Amino acid sequence: MNELRMLLEAIEGDAALAAAERFRERIEALDRLDAYLPLIDRADTELARRMQDACAQLEALNAALYRRIREDIRADHDGGRVLERFTDVDVLQAYGQDYDHLDELVAGVLQLPEPTLPTRELGAEMVFYQPTPARHVFAMIARSGLEEGDALVDLGAGLGHVPLLAAICTRTRAVGIELEPAYVACATQAASALGLANAAFLQQDARDADFAIGTVFYLYTPFRGTILREVLDRLRHEAMCRDIRICTFGPCTPVVAQEDWLVADVAPQTDRVVVFRRQIAQS
Ligand SMILES: C[S@@+](CC[C@H](N)C(=O)[O-])C[C@H]1O[C@@H](n2cnc3c(N)ncnc32)[C@H](O)[C@@H]1O
Repeated sequence: MNELRMLLEAIEGDAALAAAERFRERIEALDRLDAYLPLIDRADTELARRMQDACAQLEALNAALYRRIREDIRADHDGGRVLERFTDVDVLQAYGQDYDHLDELVAGVLQLPEPTLPTRELGAEMVFYQPTPARHVFAMIARSGLEEGDALVDLGAGLGHVPLLAAICTRTRAVGIELEPAYVACATQAASALGLANAAFLQQDARDADFAIGTVFYLYTPFRGTILREVLDRLRHEAMCRDIRICTFGPCTPVVAQEDWLVADVAPQTDRVVVFRRQIAQS
């Protein structure tokens, strides 16, 4: 327990840990304290109390940060800027499917209500819900060049993290298309609680969506096989008439990379966002 005492001393003695920008360090400290929880001797009440106090203090600092960012978003102060302050270059260049402190920050800010049990059974070739790690969403927002006049469409939006973050960080209109009504209800509620007039969620099969509303399409591998084929054919049709970008993450990326009408902005890999644009025909 000496290590725990040293850790507590370091946390208690680090007044700068209260600064908003030290969010990552606070999450790391909470994770380290959490790891000691099953090991702590309950008879050592002084140590248990110190640990409880340290956790409560760090959590209160984080809750205050989430509240401030939510207020900024609602008041249309630049809540997106605040979020982006936490996404340094390292984070935006990160690879991998794992989650980190940014996902904690996003969960605290979005405060998505717990969905009721899914009511729709996903068909064959459809992929169950899993959110894109937040750092990749920020990377997609930055690298796709989303700006006013664009409209982002997340095909298979789940609980809506991607459109919600895009609506917070840009002036873009962001739309989530999702088959599961319970997820659509949660996302809609979260957008309304944050006053995001530029985010909307539609309960639909992606194959029935109106693709004309979008300029940037995002797919975190929502489906495979013939459904993906059908959606890619419709996207190709859209791309023949106007400029669109297609952003992908996960196992659908190598499939999309085989489309000869698209060109990727980076070497296509499954564990980072790839932004595809229409291949310009060579004369
Ligand atoms: C891997 S999750 C991606 C969630 C979200 N895009 C994100 O990145 O955080 C895939 C989502 O697609 C939805 N989905 C699967 N097939 C679909 C379809 N045909 N039409 C609409 N949504 C679908 C699933 O219900 C699930 O929520």
